Amino acid sequence: MTDLSQLEADLSGRIATAPDLATVEAIRVEALGKSGSISELLKTLGRMSPDERREQGPKINGVRDAVAAAIAAKKAQLETAELDAKLASERVDLSLPPPPERKGRVHPTMQVLDEMIAVFADMGFSLAEGPDIEDDFHNFTALNFPPKHPAREMHDTFWLPEDERGERKVLRTHTSPVQVRVMQRLNEKLPAWIANGQEPPIRVIVPGRTYRSDSDATHTPMFHQMEGLVIDRNIHMGHLKWTLDTFISRYFETPMVETRFRPHHFPFTEPSAELDVRCDRSGADVKIGQGSDWMEVVGCGMVHPNVLKNCGLDPDQWQGFAFGFGIDRLGTLKYGMPDLRDMFASDVRWLEHYGFSAFQAPNTATGLS
Ligand code: PHE
Repeated sequence: MTDLSQLEADLSGRIATAPDLATVEAIRVEALGKSGSISELLKTLGRMSPDERREQGPKINGVRDAVAAAIAAKKAQLETAELDAKLASERVDLSLPPPPERKGRVHPTMQVLDEMIAVFADMGFSLAEGPDIEDDFHNFTALNFPPKHPAREMHDTFWLPEDERGERKVLRTHTSPVQVRVMQRLNEKLPAWIANGQEPPIRVIVPGRTYRSDSDATHTPMFHQMEGLVIDRNIHMGHLKWTLDTFISRYFETPMVETRFRPHHFPFTEPSAELDVRCDRSGADVKIGQGSDWMEVVGCGMVHPNVLKNCGLDPDQWQGFAFGFGIDRLGTLKYGMPDLRDMFASDVRWLEHYGFSAFQAPNTATGLS
């Protein structure tokens, strides 16, 4: 029947050239759907005589099968093409450079703090902290600064306005008030410790922010100090010197550096000293450990008996030494920064240059076990 072969040829042609899956689906509905052209032809079989049906049946069914097969093949072809296009357009190009990562830097003060803590921890020191806003008693009186004495002004103190009790708090001018707090705590616990047969010595370091009204290339109104305090029986200046010498050589990663005690005055230590290290200032950078110059790195001394008494400790039983480093200044010396003020200027380019990677462990090259 020409009609039938015409229908098949027409449908096959349209299926072959269908541009997309929607067109193929429309052709399927039109031919094989409930009232599609081929479905209608199939319905006519029922009305035919058996002979006619025997002849027409296989032909119409043959066309139906051929058209259904052509539609299925075209659908598969279009689906594959669609997937290929998607894969091509969505492919990740692994050779492209990754987008830049926003990396923060560790501030040199924090890096130096970590390094200092690592060295002192190795020597058996633990950490203590105290408040930034101090009372006069802890910042001055307990540390043997006489009342109304000009020594209180020696620190260019930031005084806070009077509170309701007429008391003027201060932004602590040094970390030494934490010595007092730690000794007071020792004193409170001492009877229980003695009763238990254990009298642990104090070996603490106290890092923290400190404040003085001062600003030039080597001073900033806020800076960081690291206090050290050792209290035990029979402590003398030899222990102090060994501790500072050992710390300095490990921190600066040099063999034992030559140091000297220079007499000084602090109200809360007796004798008091500043410790100088041998250095060379002839070049652009200061070289620690060699040369013919000296540089002051730390204030220190033996804890004054009055301070021990003010904290409730008997100076005939207990002695100790204390020291106070400028953390930021130790950083400028080790890492060669010319101006201390840059440390706190929050200049991102400076931080990019002088900052440290967050994943860099404190340098333990010189003998931390
Ligand atoms: N507190 C002193 C200062 O800020 C440093 C120091 C600490 C001196 C401990 C002696 C003992 O200058």
